[in-house]
Amino acid sequence: MGDGDRPSLADQRDTETVYQPAEDSKLLADTAVAYTESGDWVLDVGTGSGYIAHRFGEETAARVVGSDLNPNACRQARDAGVSVVRADQLTPFRDGAFDVVVFNPPYLPTEPDREWDDWMETALSGGESGREVIEPFLDDLYRVLAPDGDAFLLVSSLTGIDAVRDYARGNGLTTMEAATESHPYEKLVVLHLRPTGAPDTR
Ligand SMILES: C[S@@+](CC[C@H](N)C(=O)[O-])C[C@H]1O[C@@H](n2cnc3c(N)ncnc32)[C@H](O)[C@@H]1O
Repeated sequence: MGDGDRPSLADQRDTETVYQPAEDSKLLADTAVAYTESGDWVLDVGTGSGYIAHRFGEETAARVVGSDLNPNACRQARDAGVSVVRADQLTPFRDGAFDVVVFNPPYLPTEPDREWDDWMETALSGGESGREVIEPFLDDLYRVLAPDGDAFLLVSSLTGIDAVRDYARGNGLTTMEAATESHPYEKLVVLHLRPTGAPDTR
C-alpha cells in the first residue's frame, strides 16, 4: 500500500472489491516463505486474492489455509487454488493449530468521517489508530500458534511500529524486524512474532 505507481484509494474503491497484491504482499511473502518447513500448517489471514497463500503452495511443502472476511476475496482465492475459510480473524481456528501465521492487515489510519463502508475499506482501513484490526489479531495470535510457531505481520510506519511491538509483548509474543522496505510515504516492516510466555490476560 505504498508508492505512487498504484491507483489511488478512490480509484480502487470504484473498481475493486478485493485487494490486489502490492509491494506489501510481496515483502511479506518473500520473508515468511523462507521460514517455512515441509509439512508445516500455514494460515494466511486476510488472504485477499490468495497471493501469499499461493506463494506458500508453490514454494514450500507446507499445508496452507487462507481466510478472509470478504466473500469476494474468498471466491478469488479459491479460484487461485487456495483452500479458504470465510472467517473473522482467528476465531474459528483451534488452539495451537498453526506453525506459521501470516497477516497483511488493513493498517491505514482513517478518520471516522473518511470511512467509506465497502470491502476496500475492510481491506485498507485500520480505524483511527491504524491498529484497530491488528490489536484483536495480536490478542488471539498466541492461542492459535503452535508453541514453537512463527507469525509474520506486515506493519507500516503509518501504523506505529513501536506501538504494535509493545502490544504484541503484552500478549506474550517476542517481536523482531525480519524485513524492512522504504517507500516515499512509509516504511514497511515485517514483524516476526514468536510466543514467549503466557499473555498478560491468561
Ligand atoms: C491489505 S489486504 C491484504 C490482502 C492479501 N493478503 C495481500 O497481501 O495481498 C487485507 C485483507 O484482510 C481482510 N480482512 C480485513 N479485516 C479482516 C478480518 N477481521 N478478518 C479476516 N480478514 C480481514 C480484507 O478483506 C483484505 O482481504
